[in-house]
Amino acid sequence: MNFSFTEDQIAIRDAARDFAENEIASTAVERDISGEFPYDIVKKIGELGFMGMMVDPKWGGSGLDTVSYALALEEVAKIDASVAVIMSVNNSLVCWGIEEFGTDEQKERFLRPLATGQKLGAYCLSEPGVGSDATQQATTAVRDGNDWILNGAKNWITNGTTSDYYIVYAQSDPTKGYKGITAFIVEKDMEGFEIGKKEDKLGIRSSDTCSLGFTNVRLTDGHRLGAEGIGFKIAMETLNGGRIGIAAQALGIAAGAYERAVKYSFERQAFGKPINQLQAIQFKLSDMCVKIEAARLLIMKAARAKDAHTSYIKEAAMAKLYASTIAFEVANEAIQVHGGYGYVREYLVERSLRDAKITQIYEGTSEIQHIVIARQLLKEYQLEA
Ligand code: CAA
Repeated sequence: MNFSFTEDQIAIRDAARDFAENEIASTAVERDISGEFPYDIVKKIGELGFMGMMVDPKWGGSGLDTVSYALALEEVAKIDASVAVIMSVNNSLVCWGIEEFGTDEQKERFLRPLATGQKLGAYCLSEPGVGSDATQQATTAVRDGNDWILNGAKNWITNGTTSDYYIVYAQSDPTKGYKGITAFIVEKDMEGFEIGKKEDKLGIRSSDTCSLGFTNVRLTDGHRLGAEGIGFKIAMETLNGGRIGIAAQALGIAAGAYERAVKYSFERQAFGKPINQLQAIQFKLSDMCVKIEAARLLIMKAARAKDAHTSYIKEAAMAKLYASTIAFEVANEAIQVHGGYGYVREYLVERSLRDAKITQIYEGTSEIQHIVIARQLLKEYQLEA
C-alpha cells in the first residue's frame, strides 16, 4: 500500500485545517452549549467546495478523491465533530447516492445545489422501531396512478431540521421483503411532511438530529431514486462510503484530544517535572499515538480501495469499528492526562469524549460493523478455498 499523499491531497488537508482553526474553532464551545446549528460555517464550507467533495465538477462538485475527503473530515473533526458530521452526511450519504443512482434530471435538480452547498441533505433509513435491523422498513410507498403516496416515520435524522432534500427509504412491495424497498427524494416543503423536535444530545450538540413524519406525502416518479426495489441496495452501498466518513470523523476527535493531551503534558508540572516525564503519562501518550496511527492506516486503506473502485465493504467497516473504538478510548485517556482539568469544559477534552460516543452508534453500531466484517471475511475465505 502506498502511504504517501499527493501534493493535492496535502493541499486539501491544509486548507481544511486552516478553515477549521480560523473559522470553526472560535464558536465550537458556545455551540456545544447552546446546540445552535452552524449555518454560517456550513455556508462557507460549501463555498470552499467541501459539501460535494467527491462529486463530478459537471454537477457542481469538487471532483476530489476519497482520501482527500477523509483528510479534510479529520481536520474539521479535530476542531468540531458537529460540523464534521453535517459535512459527512451531505457528502457521503446524500450526494454520493444521487450521483450514483440518480437520473441526469435529478442530478441537475437536487445534486447540483447539494454539491455546491446551496442546499443541505439528509439520509433517512432508521425508524422509531427499526435501527440495526434495517431491512424491516415500516414506512410505506404505495402507487397511486403515476404517483407514490408515502406514509411513516423516521428517527435519528442528522441534518433533520435543516435540510432541503431527504433521501427516504420505504417499503413499496411488502411481498418482496428488502427487495421491495425503494428510495425517494423528499423535499422539505411537501404537504404531509412533518419535521419533529430536535433531540437534546450527549454530544455533537451543534448538529441537529430529529424525527420526521410522512402523512400521505405525494411523490412523482421524478422523486424516486433508482429503480423500484433497489432501495436497500442503495442504502447499504451508500453506508459503505458513509462509514469511511464517520471513521475519519472519529479519527479527528481522537487526534484532537491527543494533541491537547500532549500539549498539556508539557505545561503541567508534578513531582518537580512536566508530567510527560512520568512513565505513567508516557505510556498513555504512546498508547494513544499508536491507536491513532493504526486508525488512520485503516481509513486510508478503505479510502484508497474506494478510489480504486475495488470492494471496500469490509475495509470501511473495519475503519469505522476501529476508529470509533479508539476515539472513545483516546478521549477518555486525554481526560485522565488532564486530571480534574479534563473534566471541565474549558480544556475541551470532555467534549471529545461526549462527541466520540456517537461514532460507535450511527451509520451502523460497532456490533453491526462486526457482523459486516465477519460476513465479508467468510465470503472472501470461501472464494479463495
Ligand atoms: N454493502 C452492500 N450490500 C450489503 C451490505 C453492505 N454493507 N450489507 C448488506 N448488504 C446486502 C446483502 O448482500 C443482501 O443483498 P443480496 O441478497 O442481494 O445479496 C442484502 O443487503 C441483505 O443483507 P443480509 O441478508 O445480510 O441482511 P441482514 O438483515 O442479515 O443484515 C445488515 C443486514 C447488514 C444488518 C443491515 O441491515 C445493516 O447494515 N444495518 C445497519 C443499518 C445502519 O447502519 N443504520 C444506520 C442508519 S444511518 C444513520 O446513522 C443516520 C444518520 O443520519 C447519520
